[in-house]
Amino acid sequence: MIGNRLADALSRMQQVQNAAVEAIASATSSLELERIRVQNLGKKSALTQVTQVMAEMDQDQRKELGAALNRAKGAIEQALLIRTETVHQQEMDRRLEAEQLDVTLPGTAYPHGSPHPLLQTVRDILDILGQMGYDIYEGPEVEWEEYNFDLLNTPEHHPARDVQDTFWVTDRMVLRTQTSPAQIRYMLSHQPPIRAAMPGFCYRNEAEDASHADRFYQIEGLVVDTDISLADLKGTLAAISHRYFGPDRRLRFRPHYFPFTEPSAELDIECIVCNGVGCRSCGNEGWLELGGSGVVHPNVLRACGYDPDEVSGFAFGIGPARYAMMKHGVPDLRLFREGDLRFSRQFD
Ligand code: DAH
Repeated sequence: MIGNRLADALSRMQQVQNAAVEAIASATSSLELERIRVQNLGKKSALTQVTQVMAEMDQDQRKELGAALNRAKGAIEQALLIRTETVHQQEMDRRLEAEQLDVTLPGTAYPHGSPHPLLQTVRDILDILGQMGYDIYEGPEVEWEEYNFDLLNTPEHHPARDVQDTFWVTDRMVLRTQTSPAQIRYMLSHQPPIRAAMPGFCYRNEAEDASHADRFYQIEGLVVDTDISLADLKGTLAAISHRYFGPDRRLRFRPHYFPFTEPSAELDIECIVCNGVGCRSCGNEGWLELGGSGVVHPNVLRACGYDPDEVSGFAFGIGPARYAMMKHGVPDLRLFREGDLRFSRQFD
């Protein structure tokens, strides 16, 4: 009886061991191997259950069964060890395969911003002026009436004031109607020789159309030195425009009137939208005004403490939006202000 029990136990132990080793050999994940380990080597494992019969055995039999138990455990542990190594390797291979990085795949384009076409135009023109030796200087957008008009030889009741419908901030301050007051500020704080470019926004209370806005950008230029003449002004404006547009665009210099210059002239460019025929963009003129200019009036020089017998100067105020329109064939200035990205992106 007792001999049979031992033989029984030994054979069951062998079966458990065989089943375990077989399960281990076909396991494909470390999770599965762990489950098999707990099932076969844990406290409540099939092997431990086989040894419950020990209590009824004599010492020799216990010894034999005990030794067999250790052998079975050892065999299972050994099988686990070997299989675990293989399975770990396979798992690592699968992971490497799944997480493989193909550096030759095309990248995902990341959306990026770019300067607004008007800002880009301002930068281009200031670059040109900078290369010509102009100092860049900025005046305030809220300006004294005195600087915006009086010191620019435009006293109260001067008819030229009516041409620029002014936004008043207080009874002595305005939203500047032009960048010309920055000339005054520059001359009051510098001594000749002067070569300055003064960019910034200007405001006029007037109706908007294809080439006019109530808030617009200007770039003012001022040169004061000995013997500066109208010829220098003409050459300078032609050089700036030709560098911006290329040498083939037709320009014209047209006599005009400004209180702060004498003589005065406006600079026009042949309209690129209609090729000079006349259209909505150029007010049917065939030409579009790029800005005003002239030889600085002696009264202005005097107001800034300069002696008109010793120095002379020229000045200009140009509209970068007009430059942008005429370079890119944009028929209406308002397109620049609408913020439609489909428009702006064409200039990227
Ligand atoms: N300030 C003038 C305007 O906005 C443009 C201008 C004309 C500027 C003659 C000048 C100049 O500096 O000399 O209409």
